[in-house]
Amino acid sequence: MKERYEELIKIINEADYNYHTLDNPTITDQEYDKYLRELFEIEISHPELIRDDSPTVRVGGKVLDKFNKVHHSIPMLSLSNVFNESEIISFDNRIKKEGINPNYVCELKIDGLSVSLHYEKGKFVFAATRGDGVIGEDITENVRTIKTVPLTLSKPIDIEVRGEIYMSKTVFNELNKKRKENGLDLFQNPRNAAAGSIRQLDSKIAASRKLECWIYHLPNPEDYGISTHYEALEFMKKLGFRTNPNNRLVYSINELLSFIAEKSKARPNLPYEIDGIVIKLNNISDQKKMGFTAKYPKWATAYKFPATEVLTKLIDIVFTVGRTGQITPNAILEPVIVQGSTIRRATLNNEDYVKSKNLKVGDIVSIRKAADVIPEVVRALPERRNGTEKDFVMIKNCPICNSCLIKKEGQVDYYCMNPACDARKIEGLIHFCSRKAMNIEGLGDRIIEDFYNMHFINNYVDIYKLGEHRKELVELEGFGDKSIDNILNAIDNSKKNSLERFIFAIGIPFVGEKTAKILAKRYKTMTNFMSASFEDLKEIYDIGEKIAKSIIDYFLVDFHKNQVLKLIEIGVNEHSLLMNSVENKFFSNKTFVITGTLSKSRDEIRQTIELLGGKVTDSVSKKTNVVVVGENPGSKYEKALKLGIEIWDDEKVNEMLNN
Ligand code: IVH
Repeated sequence: MKERYEELIKIINEADYNYHTLDNPTITDQEYDKYLRELFEIEISHPELIRDDSPTVRVGGKVLDKFNKVHHSIPMLSLSNVFNESEIISFDNRIKKEGINPNYVCELKIDGLSVSLHYEKGKFVFAATRGDGVIGEDITENVRTIKTVPLTLSKPIDIEVRGEIYMSKTVFNELNKKRKENGLDLFQNPRNAAAGSIRQLDSKIAASRKLECWIYHLPNPEDYGISTHYEALEFMKKLGFRTNPNNRLVYSINELLSFIAEKSKARPNLPYEIDGIVIKLNNISDQKKMGFTAKYPKWATAYKFPATEVLTKLIDIVFTVGRTGQITPNAILEPVIVQGSTIRRATLNNEDYVKSKNLKVGDIVSIRKAADVIPEVVRALPERRNGTEKDFVMIKNCPICNSCLIKKEGQVDYYCMNPACDARKIEGLIHFCSRKAMNIEGLGDRIIEDFYNMHFINNYVDIYKLGEHRKELVELEGFGDKSIDNILNAIDNSKKNSLERFIFAIGIPFVGEKTAKILAKRYKTMTNFMSASFEDLKEIYDIGEKIAKSIIDYFLVDFHKNQVLKLIEIGVNEHSLLMNSVENKFFSNKTFVITGTLSKSRDEIRQTIELLGGKVTDSVSKKTNVVVVGENPGSKYEKALKLGIEIWDDEKVNEMLNN
């Protein structure tokens, strides 16, 4: 029995490989089904024989309650983008500048989600998503169901490979057709469908989605004595992985450009979506020479296909009110699909923007959308007008509270100045809970709006008092004990956030995520920050007068100040938890001014000083501790001499920063 069992596994695995990976079927569907049925029967009667790499695991079965986190020992990086020929040539020049005579491997950029596959002694052991590049999620059970992922390799080796999981256009269309029949929401594009499928806790559902996989990256080529990327692709193919037949080794920039032209043309006829061409330096030693930035390898890049423009009708222009009271006109469009996603709306930014494009309601307009980019109205087509179009008129009153709108001097935007305007308050609450602010999972836009309208929350403090309404909340339609407790837990957890999130969340105009980080680092506690003076704030590099004034104005409003104090009282953490592991005794809390031309850019020097705990300001004063002086310094140098402040030249600053 054991022998027959092993034989069946071999036959079916080979058939799967020939059919799915090589696209070259060797047995009929009937024969395949017969073998598979026999295999199932043996497994039912002799469960002790079941092997981990049995093809029966492809049907799924395990149901998880969550995805575990996985640490990538080699980070999974993303790719830099280039958009035209001249950027490709600059990429090539950067490589040549390092003395490299480059060959490139050109590949299709598959529009799916990247995956890392791990094998031990030739057996598939686990798979993980990219996540943030360092921590991903364990999707082993779902990946096991993908027939183009081998469960056993042709050699018993330990290896990690990376590639792209995707859904073919046909499977995507069939899936959406079925979803429509069943009244379910449709997936926007094959990438979303693939991502949604891989995130199914029930692997049977994932199996039913017929995902596929191309392998394109070997993170450790030297471990296998491999010296070029092209060899790595061949090596992975021999091991049983599915590598893309379009991959091509090119020897010149002209060949590279022809590849792009050829594949751009072939794109509509491919059975899967691609969004560009990946260009990779072939020699591994050359790749090493080029190295990496924090996010991208410098030895590869992705040429992105140009965004496509489509025509549709501008049905209406409606106005929305942001949390700062800013009024934004928005285009309401006749729904249209652009590169796989349905566009119904696009921001029109402000009155001047609409006027500069001479848009009229009823116009035929051209819409542009590139992958990951917000849709944009490019222009109106006046030649398509028939006289029924209506001129754009900027509103004078808030569309929500009807108060008179104000346009501040020198600004393009209109504002609703009523702090009690419902729209402003709701937007403010949405911002407070959002992912980059207090990150309160479960309190999404809709729920916040509903809770606001039902008078459960009217301000930030009320969010933390939501627990007092637990009894009423669990009785609301669509909620229950579990969902309300999840929200209440998320609210409670948000109290532990670091100061920068707290500063960002309270919605001070012009204080974005980056500024909040700088402020948190500088002031360490909310109490310190609240009492900062205008002078002190405006001295901080990257802050300036506009932001400093906005911060001062914000805390001058008693309501704001009291809210923040109450939040601290309730237990919202007011301390900066930014780990400054490299903070250095010398730099910590010292103030620097940089002047003149130095061998490193000023920005680079400033960033390193800040990383080490120092502060960089623009003007020399008695409070300045060190002035860094390069060639052709200005009056700052003279002032430093006059005040007797310590001066560092280029050599000294490099030495100090390197140490
Ligand atoms: S190489 C260090 N090759 O594109 C190597 N990526 O925008 C990094 N992608 O995260 C990846 N096709 O998910 C590579 N042939 C290909 C690819 C590819 C699609 C994806 C991948 C990556 C993203 C970057």
